[in-house]
Amino acid sequence: VVDVRKLYGDADVFTFDPGFTSTASCESAITYIDGDAGILLHRGYPIDELAEKSTFLEVCYLLLNGELPTAAEYEKFETTITRHTMLHAQFDRFFSGFRSDAHPMAIMTGAVGALSAFYHDSINVDDPKQREISAHRLIAKMPTIAARAFKYSVGQPFVTPRNELSYAENFLRMAFSVPAEDWKPNPVLTRAMDRIFILHADHEQNASTSTVRLAGSSGANPFACIAAGIACLWGPSHGGANEEALNMLKEIGSVDRIPEYVQGVKDRKYRLMGFGHRVYKNYDPRAKVMQKTCHEVLDEVGHGDDPLLKVAIELEKIALNDPFFVDRKLYPNIDFYSGITLRAMGFPAEMFTVLFALARTVGWISQWKEMFEDPSRKIGRPRQLYTGPTQRPFIPIDKRA
Ligand code: ACO
Repeated sequence: VVDVRKLYGDADVFTFDPGFTSTASCESAITYIDGDAGILLHRGYPIDELAEKSTFLEVCYLLLNGELPTAAEYEKFETTITRHTMLHAQFDRFFSGFRSDAHPMAIMTGAVGALSAFYHDSINVDDPKQREISAHRLIAKMPTIAARAFKYSVGQPFVTPRNELSYAENFLRMAFSVPAEDWKPNPVLTRAMDRIFILHADHEQNASTSTVRLAGSSGANPFACIAAGIACLWGPSHGGANEEALNMLKEIGSVDRIPEYVQGVKDRKYRLMGFGHRVYKNYDPRAKVMQKTCHEVLDEVGHGDDPLLKVAIELEKIALNDPFFVDRKLYPNIDFYSGITLRAMGFPAEMFTVLFALARTVGWISQWKEMFEDPSRKIGRPRQLYTGPTQRPFIPIDKRA
């Protein structure tokens, strides 16, 4: 037994909270979640209203600055972002250094971290102007990096950004066209992409955002911090769940196999991917919008009868009426329908978490910026409950049994 008072002497309070289930790590005015009621607000605005009436760039402005932009502010912001979309020419060599079968999330982690080798001014994190420029650079360059990671993984030439296109159009063109092609945006898919970006923009102190804040608390440069966030997001319990959810639907394959699969979940052989959430103990409000978007995309691309969609709808129905899931308050989360939607749009499963990272970058950098604006900022330094041996003498190697 370790005497906590001896170890943590002068601390007034010592809490032991594995998984931080009831510990706030910071104050924040960006995102509010009521998990029991299934409410998500960004700067006070409900997510479903933003997804319906706003654009991703407008939401970026809101998250970064606290208010929705006026028309003039929006125009200025859009111009600023489009001015930063290009990557340094040497980046091409950086991409080609990866194995051709590298997971695009591995490329994203490396490429975003490498931005700090190109923008030395961003290292000055104490300068508010530099922090703002870093935020703009990241929001602008993420689609270019994500599209390149995709192009590299499918062995196609890179497509340079076109700044007269909208944020979502520009990304879809960089991902799906080849340089010589006269690519035309599809309004339904463009709107769906923009909405998917909005739905993923921020989600308060989740694992990757907390990682960004913790890395940033040491004064590390913003590109290094966002690279840390991307690495954390990759895990299957977090952003990697969309890839896993699609794999699960494929594994189930048909509606008649659902009961057998659900029994495996109850027998604790595996989890139902795309279900459950640390904070939402009700329907994830993003999942509702995602389900609607999924239907719109599948109808547009002519996959309205996709067997995986049938499996998803039936699985959701069964789970929502099964005491195992009801008692544990397990509802579909945003990842449940995003995989089917992104697949129908033409993205392979390895790209799903990349798209999540692209969109979440604005949340990460807004939270990072907010942390620096807080005068009470401290380096993040969790304590531990030590369970190892008490002090003991060193035994020379020839005397050890
Ligand atoms: N399938 C089956 N059972 C589950 C699931 C699930 N998806 N999620 C939780 N449970 C069960 C657990 O077995 C546990 O049951 P028990 O009390 O009988 O032992 C109970 O529900 C509580 O589970 P915890 O792991 O304590 O819940 P926690 O809040 O820590 O986990 C998490 C949240 C990690 C998201 C979990 O629900 C999960 O693994 N879901 C699947 C992965 C997923 O979809 N992740 C995406 C999250 S959203 C996002 O990152 C965008």
